[in-house]
Amino acid sequence: MRLTNIVWTTALIAAAIILTAVLSTASLGAVTGGDAAPGKTAAQVARGKYLVDIMGCHDCHTPMKLGPNGPEWDMTRALSGHPEQLVMPPAPVQQAPWLASMGMTMTAWNGPWGTSFTKNLTPDKETGLGDWTVEEFIATMKTGRERGKGRPVLPPMPVQNLAALTDSDIRALFAYLQSLPAIKNRTPQPVEPEEKK
Ligand code: HEC
Repeated sequence: MRLTNIVWTTALIAAAIILTAVLSTASLGAVTGGDAAPGKTAAQVARGKYLVDIMGCHDCHTPMKLGPNGPEWDMTRALSGHPEQLVMPPAPVQQAPWLASMGMTMTAWNGPWGTSFTKNLTPDKETGLGDWTVEEFIATMKTGRERGKGRPVLPPMPVQNLAALTDSDIRALFAYLQSLPAIKNRTPQPVEPEEKK
């Protein structure tokens, strides 16, 4: 019980700290939502791209690489999640008031919830969202659970913010993600926190 409380409290704090920008853009998305009417696929895809860009999905789901001017997104792997080949060593032990740490690609995160790896959002059938239905995607966003019924999606995925999206904006997000080139990349399963093992 206590651990659950800690996990949830820190999840909320982490979301608040890391994602203030996402919060403001998420509410912006909700305010301006509604112009992606069902059936208008090209408009939906354009709206979805706009939302993905301003809501920071790339920040966590596109691996960072070191460029000449510092870290930049590796767009050859856009939205394909934590790179399969990058096996992470155990995360450093956090010492209060430090709370969490992240890998250099910004796709692996460690905190009181354990270690989480961002997922492949491209339409690859085996390793991405290729076999997801739009209903499952909507349910994931609304409930913060995998496919709307599995385990809770772990931090720092901003589930609290995304739950406020309108259905038409979630449909637009999905339409855009499904229009991307499929990238085969099997992201790792999360690792439980030390104290729970
Ligand atoms: C701050 C980092 C962060 C941001 C920003 C973020 N995500 Fe995530 N996302 C994650 C992590 C980490 C996971 C995996 C969590 C887990 O394993 O439970 C995840 C998981 C997901 C999943 C679940 C996939 C599955 O297989 O269950 C979907 C869908 C998703 N993200 C979509 C999005 C979309 C769309 C956006 C932009 C609106 C976004 N994410 C923004 C970190 C982030």
